[in-house]
Amino acid sequence: MVGAAGSCGTHLPRAARRAPFRARAVVHGPTGRRRVAGLGVHEVSEADLADPDAVRQALENADFVYMIPPAFHPEEDLFTLLTLHAVAPVQLVRAALPGMLSAEEGAVVTVASLLAFNAGGADPRLPRRTLYLAAEAATLGFTRTLAGELAGTPVRVQVVCPGVVATDWNNGAGRDLPWAMSPEDVASAGLAGLRLGEAVCVPGLEGQAAALDALLAAGTALLAGGNRPALAARYTDSRA
Ligand SMILES: NC(=O)c1ccc[n+]([C@@H]2O[C@H](COP(=O)([O-])OP(=O)(O)OC[C@H]3O[C@@H](n4cnc5c(N)ncnc54)[C@H](OP(=O)(O)O)[C@@H]3O)[C@@H](O)[C@H]2O)c1
Repeated sequence: MVGAAGSCGTHLPRAARRAPFRARAVVHGPTGRRRVAGLGVHEVSEADLADPDAVRQALENADFVYMIPPAFHPEEDLFTLLTLHAVAPVQLVRAALPGMLSAEEGAVVTVASLLAFNAGGADPRLPRRTLYLAAEAATLGFTRTLAGELAGTPVRVQVVCPGVVATDWNNGAGRDLPWAMSPEDVASAGLAGLRLGEAVCVPGLEGQAAALDALLAAGTALLAGGNRPALAARYTDSRA
């Protein structure tokens, strides 16, 4: 469990205890180590997610990885945000996947955000989100496409996309919102979704399969429609 000492991560051990795993908590440092003490994990290791070697060591012999990157406010440091939200999941998969494939079992769960589906949206009530959304969309696209590439192997891949969660993220903006989900529920949704064979888990969404099918159909139509040798008429209209 990467991010095991965070708001969502500290609820994972309880959810995982119902399954027959040995659980390793990967924490950032001594503070995280103190936070996970007493949660019932079997091992604790420390790693800076920005360091690929540390990630590789922390995941040694793991056959199930659940990664929750740190919650960042959209306005925080550009490099850190993109590294921890978009690059670290790729490094994590590169570290863990070869072992899982040779052991012929395993699972990878990443956590992104429902905002990842909202590129181009202009709702003024949402927080400033350009970089955060781009990083989460990278993880969504990466994990979802990887799930397709690994279909037919024993390794399962899933991305969890929560909506607003009642944590300290964004100065605790979600804490008082009636539509905020608890971090406990987010943590257990991924594990339940994995048992259901879901590549994408949106914890609060009813009718998820139909919604994702519609989204994929729209994307596929756009790809097919745009993949032509000729320019669209609006670009050849001399009045343009
Ligand atoms: N809250 C929401 O409304 C919401 C909505 C949708 C999606 N999400 C996503 O859900 C996730 C929420 O996670 P959370 O609330 O559990 O996060 P969190 O409470 O911020 O916990 C993140 C953990 O990561 C650790 N960490 C920070 N920098 C690190 C680094 N460089 N290397 C290794 N570990 C590091 C922190 O440890 P230290 O404190 O010891 O540094 C902390 O224990 C985030 O990815 C967020 O984007 C949140």
